[in-house]
Amino acid sequence: MKKREATVSFLEYNNVDELPATEKALVGEAVRAAAGAYAPYSHFMVGAALLLDNGDVVRGANVENAAFPSGSCAEKTALSYMVANYGGRKVVAIAIAALTEGLLTDDPVPPCGNCRQMLIEEEQRSGSPVKVILAGRSAIFVLENSQALMPLSFTGRNLRK
Ligand code: THU
Repeated sequence: MKKREATVSFLEYNNVDELPATEKALVGEAVRAAAGAYAPYSHFMVGAALLLDNGDVVRGANVENAAFPSGSCAEKTALSYMVANYGGRKVVAIAIAALTEGLLTDDPVPPCGNCRQMLIEEEQRSGSPVKVILAGRSAIFVLENSQALMPLSFTGRNLRK
């Protein structure tokens, strides 16, 4: 028996103004995306902005449903739209932000397990890292790749013998 560890390292910024310009702009896009959320049940408005390798930005927001499981997270909305409409491109980075009562949340909002799974799939599909930027008012976390969000994740490799 041996003990193994999976550690995650990420950058923490205390202010968006400390971010490199491209990342700061992507956070702005995520906040604007959040404003377009349809969240009449949770009132938790999430926005995701994907930066593509050609510089385009694809936005997504959470879309809720009276039948709760039918709703979609912001990240899932954005990634699904991206794959369907820009399938030849790669996602370089994703910024995620959420609004409650019209204000950016204090803490950065981490993606749910399903969305982590989707981000990791995107990395596998494109063969390139997807940087993750989680923006809150008190802190902004930046992870160099999505795999870091979920150690021991299930991927297509596990489907092979
Ligand atoms: N939500 C997202 O859009 N992304 C996440 O990663 C976490 C949760 C949404 C789903 C639901 O509409 C609302 O936030 C409350 O859970």
